[in-house]
Amino acid sequence: MEHNVQQSKSTTSRRSFLRKGLAVGGAGAIGAGLFANGLPAFAEVESGGLTKGDAAILRFLSALEILETDLWQQYNELGGIQDSEVPGGTGSAAYTKALKVLDGDMDQYIHDNTEDEFTHFTFINAYLMSKGADPVNLDKFRTLPSSKATGAQDIGRLTNLMQLTVDTSYWTKYRSRTKNPDFGDTFPPAVPGLLKGQFPAIPRDNNDLSPADHIQAIANTAGFHFAFIEQGGTSLYPSLAQRVTHPEVLRILLSIGPTETQHFQTWQDKAGNAPALTDPTNGLVFPDLNSPPFGGEDFQTNLIMPEPTIFLSRKFPPVSIIRPTATKGAAMGALKALTDDGLFIGQPPEFFDVLHKLAKQADAARHGG
Ligand SMILES: [Fe+2]
Ligand SMILES: [Fe+2]
Repeated sequence: MEHNVQQSKSTTSRRSFLRKGLAVGGAGAIGAGLFANGLPAFAEVESGGLTKGDAAILRFLSALEILETDLWQQYNELGGIQDSEVPGGTGSAAYTKALKVLDGDMDQYIHDNTEDEFTHFTFINAYLMSKGADPVNLDKFRTLPSSKATGAQDIGRLTNLMQLTVDTSYWTKYRSRTKNPDFGDTFPPAVPGLLKGQFPAIPRDNNDLSPADHIQAIANTAGFHFAFIEQGGTSLYPSLAQRVTHPEVLRILLSIGPTETQHFQTWQDKAGNAPALTDPTNGLVFPDLNSPPFGGEDFQTNLIMPEPTIFLSRKFPPVSIIRPTATKGAAMGALKALTDDGLFIGQPPEFFDVLHKLAKQADAARHGG
């Protein structure tokens, strides 16, 4: 079914019924009442017991999971394991080998992360439909070019992995003991060069397979990009969970979100193994993060668990937490981060309109409404 942001006719009549009920009963009486399904009576029910806000949050998450799946699929075709669980592509030996410098199991992890993302959007869409709500379908935007390197399928894509500007500040964000993005703090990138240009994270064609330091730089870029993507999901789920209404929808967010964190933890560890080098074709530098001016708590590569930091108020003791988790504007923030990453380069204005609308509706969701 095509993604549809408009309400159905039956939804409209249900909503006007609710509004009438409000007008007649008065806020006090309504506030105390509950529907049989356990939802507050003031909640705007979209369909099948799902509130408008819950449906909006699930739809935004479904859209992002579809986009995640698309990018992971591209990584898997060239650098993962192509099998019946994650079909498509035949692998690039040189790229797979360069990725394995970060960890011998990179292909397995890429495969598993790809499968996870596929199940995330498939489940959320199925859940939406089970409640009579519209699922998300972005198929009309599968128009971006594939890699021309041997091993990739030649099909239309939603995301572009060949012109990325990767923000690696998650690295220092999770290593800081005194700062938190929810307090307005900012963090330096681990690999400053990745923020100063557009770099491929997959070989664009077979010319990218050499020289050795070039294909390694592409694999390193992928390694840092994997963690960038998954730390985003790590924050997004708890951020949005604060505004869902139905306990079952909360359970969905609380059950999927931590798998993003498992991914992030894995990728952060692997990115730390990316060899220091300079790409001879474009000058991109991957520094030795264990040596001055890097190193120490801010950069040391084996500090892959979160350092405790400030949370909620400085009056509390530091605590080891996911960061950020502020809920205001979380959906739009996630969309902006992915856009700034370069993932959507080449998409038409309509694509951004659809994504903005979904993010806006998710950010308008309120617990109980
Ligand atoms: Fe996901
Ligand atoms: Fe993910």
